[in-house]
Amino acid sequence: MKFFIDSANLDEIKKVAEWGLVDGVTTNPSLLAKEGRGFKDTICAIADLIDGPISAEVVSTTSDEMLKEAHTVASWHPNVVVKIPFIPEGMRVVRQLSEEGIKTNVTLLFTLNQALIAAKAGATFLSNFVGRVDDLGGEGMVAVQDTVNMVHTYDFKSEVLVASIRSPQTIVESVRAGAHIATIPFKVLELMYKHPLTDKGLQSFLDDWKRSGLTIE
Ligand code: E4P
Repeated sequence: MKFFIDSANLDEIKKVAEWGLVDGVTTNPSLLAKEGRGFKDTICAIADLIDGPISAEVVSTTSDEMLKEAHTVASWHPNVVVKIPFIPEGMRVVRQLSEEGIKTNVTLLFTLNQALIAAKAGATFLSNFVGRVDDLGGEGMVAVQDTVNMVHTYDFKSEVLVASIRSPQTIVESVRAGAHIATIPFKVLELMYKHPLTDKGLQSFLDDWKRSGLTIE
């Protein structure tokens, strides 16, 4: 399974780049707005840090304007993937970009039917949001499981990307569902490393070693 980081914060992205386990980055207009730095400037700085797909989202809602924005963001760096919201106009753009060989990430997918339409349009990535459904008392992972099955059944080329992740438990469920990618916020990535029994176990190994007087050499 591939890990993307869901962030536009360069400090966070620099840290995970050093950890060496991140395969790509997803941004969205809200994440970019929080950083207060230029759109192109931020995407290019991210592309210098991570050698993998970097999603940059269009902000228009008509197909002509979306297509224009898509060509602009795609021209910034070869690793840019154009993120398109799931609306009918957007799916026309995904079809067009797919014919041009430009990669797309369809965002704001909540149902199997939406994912099916996006896959048929030729989306590279299907961003299925889990946390926003769970926040409302739903079960966001159900659509992920269904979408993974659909991609395999019909041999779509699209990859299932689990988005809107709130906790490490969603990564566990994404692995069980066989999702191709999880895009993970920095604080959740940090939590994935943590277990009190690991800390406790390491401390007792080190204490016992010290007491023994043994050395490596
Ligand atoms: C991913 O591409 C989305 O932008 C992101 O995961 C949304 O997460 P949120 O629901 O926490 O805003």
